[in-house]
Amino acid sequence: MNQKTAKKVVWVTGASSGIGLALTKRYLEAGWRVLASARKPGELTPLLDKHEHLAFIEFDIADDSQIDSVRAALAAHSDCLDCAVLNAGTCEYLDMSDIDPDWKMMDRIMSVNFFGLVNSVDVCLPLLKKSSRPHLVGVSSQAVQAAFPQAEAYGASKAAVRYFLSSLRMDLKPFNIDVTCLLPGFVDTPLTQKNSFSMPFLMSADDAAKRMFSALESRPFEFAFPKRLSAMLWAGRHFPKLWLTMLAPKKER
Ligand SMILES: NC(=O)c1ccc[n+]([C@@H]2O[C@H](COP(=O)([O-])OP(=O)(O)OC[C@H]3O[C@@H](n4cnc5c(N)ncnc54)[C@H](OP(=O)(O)O)[C@@H]3O)[C@@H](O)[C@H]2O)c1
Repeated sequence: MNQKTAKKVVWVTGASSGIGLALTKRYLEAGWRVLASARKPGELTPLLDKHEHLAFIEFDIADDSQIDSVRAALAAHSDCLDCAVLNAGTCEYLDMSDIDPDWKMMDRIMSVNFFGLVNSVDVCLPLLKKSSRPHLVGVSSQAVQAAFPQAEAYGASKAAVRYFLSSLRMDLKPFNIDVTCLLPGFVDTPLTQKNSFSMPFLMSADDAAKRMFSALESRPFEFAFPKRLSAMLWAGRHFPKLWLTMLAPKKER
């Protein structure tokens, strides 16, 4: 990776697929240097040969034992990080008619979506502190705006991310680190391609990345999109009985 020509450096987690991959491409197009992480390079592989400003750093965000080595790997590529987009995540749905005995799925989802994001903050904070205008970004979900059936684990993990980032925003203020929480609606990626329910206002990963990248320029506290879904979920929050009637399963599964 050529460290001299591009100016700003971003770390993107979950960069091997879907939204993270699309964001990686967008940052590269905008002239950033991108340090991209996931457990495997996946769909990043063809880009790694093509882009001198792109490097892959393997990281399983749920594995605490990797924190120090990943931080060292990032530091080997760059003295500081101007932005970290903590996007890696996973999704599983609870099936009330077939629950595993210890509700292990809750652990799996929380350990990636919430504790994995906490681990990622742990990794990147020292390098963000070295930037003159650092920006920490985490990916939550519009799912936190109103309850969805079977989303007990996913929704709770993303609500935890949102609260964590809101609180962190306060505590990082003295360090001049801006914190943004992104709340995407339904995006067409491998994560949602297995869904069998209808996904209103579904958008492509490129469209989502374009909206996110552009919104991040002004460093909002939160950015929820698309607005039509936000409006629908506002109604769900404010008319909970109607929302329940509309979304609750009609018969025992
Ligand atoms: N798609 C949507 O509609 C939607 C809506 C709202 C929010 N989101 C959020 O957006 C983020 C990206 O989702 P996506 O839709 O782009 O999904 P995706 O295509 O499945 O991509 C998920 C990414 O996260 C990485 N990842 C998963 N587990 C990981 C782990 N333990 N350690 C490190 N990396 C891990 C995956 O790479 P490896 O498997 O190689 O590690 C992959 O790069 C997630 O946080 C998701 O919850 C998505």
